[in-house]
Amino acid sequence: MNGIIVKNKRITDGHFLLSMKLSGSFQTPRPGQFVMVRDKGRSDPLLGRPFSVYAFERRETKVIVEILYKVVGKGTLFLSMLKRGDSLEIFGPYGHAFDVFVFPHATKVVLISGGIGIAPIAFLASNYRRIVDAGNVELIFYCGATSALALVEVEKIKELSSDIFISTDDGSIGYHGVITDVFSKNISMYDPENSIIYACGPGPMLKRLSDLLVKNPIPCHVLIEERMACGVGACLGCTVRSKDKNGRDAHVRVCKDGPVFNIEDIAWS
Ligand code: FES
Repeated sequence: MNGIIVKNKRITDGHFLLSMKLSGSFQTPRPGQFVMVRDKGRSDPLLGRPFSVYAFERRETKVIVEILYKVVGKGTLFLSMLKRGDSLEIFGPYGHAFDVFVFPHATKVVLISGGIGIAPIAFLASNYRRIVDAGNVELIFYCGATSALALVEVEKIKELSSDIFISTDDGSIGYHGVITDVFSKNISMYDPENSIIYACGPGPMLKRLSDLLVKNPIPCHVLIEERMACGVGACLGCTVRSKDKNGRDAHVRVCKDGPVFNIEDIAWS
């Protein structure tokens, strides 16, 4: 589907917020789903890139889809140079969303993000109360970033949360270190009987979280960000190691089987 850029704004060092206007026939995305974005009429350098949906709004006959992205290579650099009025091809929404009904008795919802992983987590947070209708649920955020400059959209997160913990690799704001260290210090505050975790961030962050949960089995669903080509399960380019029901080695396609998984189902390495 054709998307017209209405805003492509640098929000902090190397991070951009892209807003696109699409036809109203675009399906409403659920938190955790992603869109494939491609430069119209060209295949390189933007050869179909997956981006988690950060925000979505329906306006009469049109919809606005927003993504947050960090410039990390040729494709995202190209994207950052596009201007208001330029066109992109948008496909989706794809993938399995966060299942917010998986644990209906949760009264503490812990949201953990690392880096640009904040995008789907913020979308989940902004939709959570509307979807679940749970006024007495606490939303507790743990946000990690490389530096204060790379900590994007924190004001929005503060408005949505009951409590927020921040860490940066360089100590420029919040705890000096990684966000899983902060969570680890607080982990006893979360009873597996009434808490659930949703997380998105770099692989090492998710692996560390998985290790922490071995002794503290709080239910946890994670969104895995992986390079993708087709985005619909055909090319096997996004395969990661997993475990089947009997704990044996298996593989899953992030685009088709995820991108949201139970943390226990992935073979973290
Ligand atoms: Fe092709 Fe996932 S990107 S199978």
